[in-house]
Amino acid sequence: MVNGDLKIFSGMANNPLAAEIAAQLGTGLGEVSIREAPDSETLVMVKESVRGCDVYVVQPTSAPVNDNLMQLLFIVDALRRASAKRITAVIPYFGYSRQERMAHGREPISAKVVADMLQAVGVDRIILTDIHAPAMQGFFNIPLETLSAVPLIIDYLRQQDLSDSVIVAPDVGRAKLAEQYAERLGVPLALIHKARESATTSRIVGMIGDLRGRSPIIIDDIISTGGTIVETAHAVLNAGARQNLRLAAVHGLLAGSASERLDQDFIQEVILTDTVHIPADKRTPNMTTLSVAQLFSEAIHRVHNENSVSGLYLLT
Ligand code: R5P
Repeated sequence: MVNGDLKIFSGMANNPLAAEIAAQLGTGLGEVSIREAPDSETLVMVKESVRGCDVYVVQPTSAPVNDNLMQLLFIVDALRRASAKRITAVIPYFGYSRQERMAHGREPISAKVVADMLQAVGVDRIILTDIHAPAMQGFFNIPLETLSAVPLIIDYLRQQDLSDSVIVAPDVGRAKLAEQYAERLGVPLALIHKARESATTSRIVGMIGDLRGRSPIIIDDIISTGGTIVETAHAVLNAGARQNLRLAAVHGLLAGSASERLDQDFIQEVILTDTVHIPADKRTPNMTTLSVAQLFSEAIHRVHNENSVSGLYLLT
């Protein structure tokens, strides 16, 4: 065996996904205790030997972002001190990835701070899915496997009637992503142009492409508050699109009242993946969740056996 025994651990952010990945790899989840101290500090203890092992810690750094991040850092530190041979952080959703540059003076580059912390505690390798800003790869001096769940969503959409569909990008930042969907699905593309008014508000100022009488599929990488995608939905309907909207994104953060926003008659379907755990009270009747477990178990299997992961990479 090239590497030591394969072990999968999970923080508290997405235990169902981690358990499914471990089940598919035939390992089961390693035992770790994570508790909160009375003063709200996080207490972590790895409860089995990892000496010489090839260890993977599954933990999206979704809400509560700082708690989940600290759990990940502490688990990695514990594993390192317990003599794990190699530690891979499996981060299906990378929190702070939308703070990857200084949009204004005197702002931190928070994504870089997180990258530095992960490397400082001794992470050897990171596996990610669809990071918001691919240039963030440069924040790391360790191997980074960037997977994409977009092909999963594309395969799912392929099973539907797409004869009058149009892929819609909610802003120019997602134009390339929308192009990938449109090309692979063989449907036309429309693009919304937004002007940002403040850190939290924006205004639609233009639209490229014909939406009249078409069934729109609005795509994005993240749905957080749902503001962007639902605002785009209204614009698309005003432009004459049919009232059978589908929305698709890899990461369903569903912050605040996002679920109520998405649960509307004119939204036929919201397609998300389980990179972030979606609790029952945030699921809506029009929501479809596709699992990334197989994508990650395959990636981990290949990394563990020193095989190429490139077939699982983002469509570029
Ligand atoms: C922004 O650049 C992202 O691609 C998403 O459009 C954004 O994060 C979605 O956030 P929200 O759902 O809060 O509008």
